[in-house]
Amino acid sequence: MRQKNEQLPRHVAIIMDGNGRWAKQHSLAVALGHRKGVETLREIVRYASDVGIEVLSLYAFSTENWRRSKPEVAALMALILEFFRSEIDELHANRVRIRILGDTDALPGLQRDAVHAAEQKTKDNDGLQLNIALNYGSRDEILRAVRALAQQVKNGNLQPEQIDAARFEALLYTAGQPDVDLLIRTSGEYRLSNFLLYQNAYAELMFPEVLWPDFTVQHFAQALADFGKRDRRYGGRAT
Ligand code: IPE
Ligand code: IPE
Ligand code: MG
Repeated sequence: MRQKNEQLPRHVAIIMDGNGRWAKQHSLAVALGHRKGVETLREIVRYASDVGIEVLSLYAFSTENWRRSKPEVAALMALILEFFRSEIDELHANRVRIRILGDTDALPGLQRDAVHAAEQKTKDNDGLQLNIALNYGSRDEILRAVRALAQQVKNGNLQPEQIDAARFEALLYTAGQPDVDLLIRTSGEYRLSNFLLYQNAYAELMFPEVLWPDFTVQHFAQALADFGKRDRRYGGRAT
């Protein structure tokens, strides 16, 4: 277990990538790769909650993932439902607060109801803030915020000069939460794939080669330790 006094990121974001390749490596159907990925997710959430991370954002389904085959999308949607149904009681008992990042209107009805119920049930919890990005796209998020601001200007409730970072950030799905400090993408892909582009402005980036189903709490602990050694300058001079 980590020492409490080590520097811990407040907000960790994870692009959970590599389920498909893991399934292929094991000659299994892709759905079984995703299923194994959910097991990893469960352990990482528990660990993040135990060590006192404030916000954990997990990329579960992007606005682009609808391009996958019908059976794969169906398998992912089934897993999402299963996850919320089976985990909600334990998460709630651990005081985890769930927030969905993304456009839930476009989710199938059962999934939409399950995620809204989870948000509602856990909304007053004071533990780990768990963001699950579902039908999430960063460009879509930014455009929504821009549209909402334009509407306020049009209605005469806002002057263009009054648009500042605080007003803009209040319209993002992550409103009220700190920027991402540490972004991890597994599987050796070095891209953001439309995840939290605004919030990652000064994040430290890590790209472990391991596939998501093989990612363990030891890998996660190592990433947190490595984060403590990074020198964050925000455009200033090293001290
Ligand atoms: C990430 O694993 C999970 C989702 C995108 C839902 P992938 O399914 O993208 O795995 P690879 O990239 O094909 O290995
Ligand atoms: C990003 O992974 C989305 C999630 C992990 C949910 P992808 O596998 O969809 O991203 P690309 O297509 O490799 O960029
Ligand atoms: Mg992938």
